Amino acid sequence: MSFVKYEQKDFVGVVTIDREKALNALNPEVLKDLEAVIDAVDLDKTRCLVLTGAGQKAFVAGADIGAMSTMTPDEGRAFSAQGNAVFRKIEKLPIPVIAAVNGFALGGGCELSLSCDIRLASENAVFGQPETGLGITPGFGGTQRLARTIGVGKAKELIYASRNMKAPEALACGLVNAVYPAEELMDAALKLANRIAGNAPIAVRQSKKAVNMGLQMDIDTAVALEPELFAACFGTQDQQNAMTAFCEKRKHDPFIN
Ligand code: HXC
Repeated sequence: MSFVKYEQKDFVGVVTIDREKALNALNPEVLKDLEAVIDAVDLDKTRCLVLTGAGQKAFVAGADIGAMSTMTPDEGRAFSAQGNAVFRKIEKLPIPVIAAVNGFALGGGCELSLSCDIRLASENAVFGQPETGLGITPGFGGTQRLARTIGVGKAKELIYASRNMKAPEALACGLVNAVYPAEELMDAALKLANRIAGNAPIAVRQSKKAVNMGLQMDIDTAVALEPELFAACFGTQDQQNAMTAFCEKRKHDPFIN
């Protein structure tokens, strides 16, 4: 039995963390299952992923506190490294990943959402890094990605004060792109995923690479990278068909590359 389910709908894959009775809390086994599902995504057939949590209450309520409560420093380090490796793998997937945050996204749950490209939230979503209240630091990338996503000052406040924030505040600080009534969240995430999947796949992948790699570079290196990724789109059938169709004032064929 796996704690992570996968469903393919045309070009979109839906990944569900499925440990509802523990609010989808992440232990080493759940992380292992998540990695296996991510490794198995058929990148020839999949153009976008949606990542969510089972049930109505939680996306992921964090790393499993019971499992962590007896860890030694070495075991804690290994757990942190395991989660970081899986989340980095998600971040580095060539295709976009949308987090559909359907409730609590605390600690490791907030960190999991941060490893995704885009976060959409339900009205009942709650985000936060409550680790300092448990005597630990965030350990699945939260100290790094939260600051990069919402700014250093706000990230430090939330982490130091162990303060959670509700969906409207998450929207206001740019942590999430949009907030929906709970029953509309999945449809909205799938609609966005399908819209992304309807664009030129190579161009979408090159765009993800450009943004993510560029954020780690100085601006001169980053703007020198962009022409290389841009150039790689030329000569693709998608680029030729789409631009020719525009010039000939007709609808272009579906994107295929
Ligand atoms: C283990 C958890 C859990 C967690 C919830 N559960 N969160 N189990 N680890 N993080 C379990 C509860 O024990 C309970 O199990 C069941 O899920 C339902 O939770 P309740 O607490 O009864 O629900 P509720 O009263 O609605 O409260 C929801 C909640 C609360 C506010 C989300 O569960 C909560 O505060 N959870 C912990 C959130 C947190 O601190 N996350 C950060 C963890 S640190 P039973 O068996 O009693 O029904 C972290 C570090 C990441 O994530 C880095 C690691 C390297």
